[in-house]
Amino acid sequence: MDHFVYRDRTLFCEDVPVPELADTYGTPLYVYSQATLLRHLTEIQTAFAQANPIVCYSVKTNGNLSLCRLMAEHGAGFDVTSGGELYRALRAGSKGSKIVFAGVGKSDAEMKTGLENGVFLFNVESEGELHALGEVARSLGVKAPVALRVNPDLPPKTHAKTDTSVKGVKFGLDIETIIDVAKSVVGHPGLAVVGLHMHLGSPILKADPYREGAAKAVALVKAFRAQGHDIRYLNMGGGFGIHYRKQEALPAAAFAEVILPAVKETGCQLVLEPGRFIVGNAGLLVSRVVFTKSTGGKHYVIQDAAMNDLIRPTLYDSFHRIWPVHPRAEVPERPDDYEAEIPGTFAQDVVGPVCESGDFFAKGRNLPALARGDLLATFSAGAYGMAMASNYNSRLRAAEILVTGRTHRLIRRRETFEDLVACEDDCLS
Ligand code: LLP
Repeated sequence: MDHFVYRDRTLFCEDVPVPELADTYGTPLYVYSQATLLRHLTEIQTAFAQANPIVCYSVKTNGNLSLCRLMAEHGAGFDVTSGGELYRALRAGSKGSKIVFAGVGKSDAEMKTGLENGVFLFNVESEGELHALGEVARSLGVKAPVALRVNPDLPPKTHAKTDTSVKGVKFGLDIETIIDVAKSVVGHPGLAVVGLHMHLGSPILKADPYREGAAKAVALVKAFRAQGHDIRYLNMGGGFGIHYRKQEALPAAAFAEVILPAVKETGCQLVLEPGRFIVGNAGLLVSRVVFTKSTGGKHYVIQDAAMNDLIRPTLYDSFHRIWPVHPRAEVPERPDDYEAEIPGTFAQDVVGPVCESGDFFAKGRNLPALARGDLLATFSAGAYGMAMASNYNSRLRAAEILVTGRTHRLIRRRETFEDLVACEDDCLS
């Protein structure tokens, strides 16, 4: 459920008409609904409440400072994957003790900053990292709190580029050898192995992989404890899917049902790292049609948003619902199924101005006739949209705004041409 609704053939974000936002802030524009964002955070907190979970919002999904601050204000911790994300989480108001530090390639400097800020857990992904972290911690005279990340070797469950728990990916320690690795650091003066971590992949639309992963986790926690490690935390990562095509995602309760029994069996405190589930359906990308054209037997809608604003369609062949902000009378106000034949529509490619044939948001999509100046909404764009945006083709990154009820405010200004060259200007000889 989100708070993007059509009223009298105009799209609203909560109680604000989207055209008002486009007129005020320009396009392309990322629009977030605060009510949707908090609704999804609360849904996770409630579904897992009996385990009193530490819900660490995954900053990589959308690191906007204002959104992160909202998360912190509503009880979330943070999952960070770089020194930059750690900086964002701290700037947003998080305490280090609510931050888990993930990533396969942490530098010594990142480890040091994490330790100095007292991060709650380091998710460690290799033997080399474990020993490097132990050294950095020793040099600071502290013990690093560690959750070993296991690759639980499950069958494929999502797009190959984002499946992180199959054999042959770079993530985690092999399930066959993780026990030996754990054994090698029993009693290490710079390391306290206190947790087990796994992140299955993203997005996942079924609960079964979590059931299988959790069962493997229970066995590993027991084995680590038998070695003498005081395992207190079970981190089941993120990955919960959202609605991209229609209402296809599971509620958080479905994941809780398969994860909670394992948490209970181990007596561990549960940690989660959701990102997409919280912010994905809470964001919209609003664009304006620049031109339409028909060529080579195909119809194109050329809009002012492009692959530099939202790279997911070309990178993962992902589907985002797209519909006019002001649908005309001859088409449905909001189709139930964007993939079906929709009366009054014809197949069109929605593309942007970037100089690549891969610059598209949709191919052969059934859309009504559109004209120069029409506004388009690309739904479910809150996760990995702005976070993966770039300046490719020297395009300025979009503005972001946050809506709550009838009010709206800028949470990231549109970039300027000066921003574009800021890091190079002083270097001109
Ligand atoms: N924890 C770890 C260790 C992760 O690697 C990720 C995502 C998450 C948590 C958060 O997963 P979420 O709850 O958001 O599904 N750019 C891709 C997704 C990459 C996911 C990377 N890791 C996309 O646009 O689909």
